[in-house]
Amino acid sequence: MENTQFYVAKTFAGIEPLLADELAALGARNCKILSRSVSFEGDMDLMYKANYFCRFALRILWLQKKFTFTNNRQFYEQIFDFPAEKFMGPDNTLAVHATIADTIFKTPLYASVLAKDAVCDRFRDLNGRRPSVDKENPDVQLHLHVYKNEAQLFLDSSGESLHKRGYKVMNHPAPINEVVAATMIKLSGWKADCDFIDPMCGGGTILIEAAMQALNIPAGFYRRNYGFGYWKNFDAERWREIRKSAAIKDDVSVDFYGSDINPRFLDMAETNIRKARLEDFIRLEKRDMRQAKPARIPSLVMMNPPYGERLAVDDLNEFYSEIGDSLKNNFSGCRAFIISSDMDALKHIGLKANSKTKLFNGPLECRFMGYDLFKGDHKNYATHKKNREE
Ligand SMILES: C[S@@+](CC[C@H](N)C(=O)[O-])C[C@H]1O[C@@H](n2cnc3c(N)ncnc32)[C@H](O)[C@@H]1O
Repeated sequence: MENTQFYVAKTFAGIEPLLADELAALGARNCKILSRSVSFEGDMDLMYKANYFCRFALRILWLQKKFTFTNNRQFYEQIFDFPAEKFMGPDNTLAVHATIADTIFKTPLYASVLAKDAVCDRFRDLNGRRPSVDKENPDVQLHLHVYKNEAQLFLDSSGESLHKRGYKVMNHPAPINEVVAATMIKLSGWKADCDFIDPMCGGGTILIEAAMQALNIPAGFYRRNYGFGYWKNFDAERWREIRKSAAIKDDVSVDFYGSDINPRFLDMAETNIRKARLEDFIRLEKRDMRQAKPARIPSLVMMNPPYGERLAVDDLNEFYSEIGDSLKNNFSGCRAFIISSDMDALKHIGLKANSKTKLFNGPLECRFMGYDLFKGDHKNYATHKKNREE
C-alpha cells in the first residue's frame, strides 16, 4: 500500500492486547504486540487518529530510520544524516529520549546526548544556529531505541503522554492514571447498560473516563497540544477533519455517581468534571463509602481505595474488610471492581473474586479485582447468577 508508515504505540504492561485491538479498529495493519508497546503500520491519517482516539496508548512514535552501528562515530553520523529540518527549525526546542539494552553505550543519557549533538550540529551546518534543548517541555521529541548494534529513531507524535487528556485541572495526590482507568472500565465489560458508581472518586478520573466511553467522547477531545502540531508537515486541515469525524452522543440512559469522604477532593472532582463538560451526567456527594448505596440495582461499582502508599489510612486491612462488608450489605445485585497495589489488604475484602488482572498504575503493580455481589454465602451464588442471567 502507498504511503505506509511504521509506528509504535507505547502503553503500560498488560494493556498491549487492548491497545492492539483499538489500533486495528482504527485501521492499523500488521499490529504486533511487543513489551509495553504495539507496533503497527498505516498512513499519516492513522497517526492523527491514534493520538486522538486511542484510550489505551501513552504515546505514538513514528519510525524515521533504522540503522546498525559499531561505534560512537557511526551512531553520530547516522543521526546526523536524518533530515530533521523537514520537521523542525532551529527555533524549535528539542529533546532526545533514549532506551538502551545490551549495547556499547553505558547509559541511555550518553546515547541521547550523542544523538542530540548530531541533530544540533546538522542545524548549525545548515543554518548557522543550533536548536536549544528543553527536557521538560520540548517542541519536538525524538526517541531512540537501541538494542545491541541496532538503533531505531522515532519522532514522538504525541509530545506529552496521552494519559494527559486535558480535563485534569486539579490534581489529586493519589490519582489513577487515565489510561489505567480506561482499561479498568473496558475490562469490566460495562457497556453503559447500568448506572456507574465510584464511591471513592477522588479527583473523578474513573467517572470521567466512564462517561467519556459511554458518550463516545474521544480520548483526546479535551487536549489541545500534540507533538505533531509543531512539525512543519502538520496537516491542520486533515487534523480538523479527523476531530470532526467523532460521533459523540449527547445523552445516555444511565447515571454516574461519585462520592468521597474528603470535601477537598470532591471540589477537585467537580472542577475536573466541569472542565470535561460532564456535569449534567455525573452527580457528586460527600459520603463515607461504608454508608454508600446504589440508586438503582444493578449498578456497576468501581473504585480505587487508598493503597497506603500515597494516602495514609490507620489500619488498611480493617478498612478493606469494611469496604467488603459495605459491598456485600449495600450493593447486593451489583458488580464491583477494585484496584489496589496492596495485595494483603485486598485479601481482607473478604469476597470471592471472579476476575483478577495484573495492572500497573504508573510504577505501582496492582491487582484489578471483579466481584459479583449477592446476599448470603457462596452457596447462594449459583442461584444469584442464574437469576441475573434470566
Ligand atoms: C486513591 S484515591 C482515589 C483517586 C481517584 N481514583 C482519582 O483518580 O483521583 C482514594 C480516595 O478514597 C477516599 N476515601 C478514603 N476513605 C474513604 C471513605 N471511608 N469513604 C469514601 N472515600 C474515602 C480518599 O479521600 C481518596 O480521595
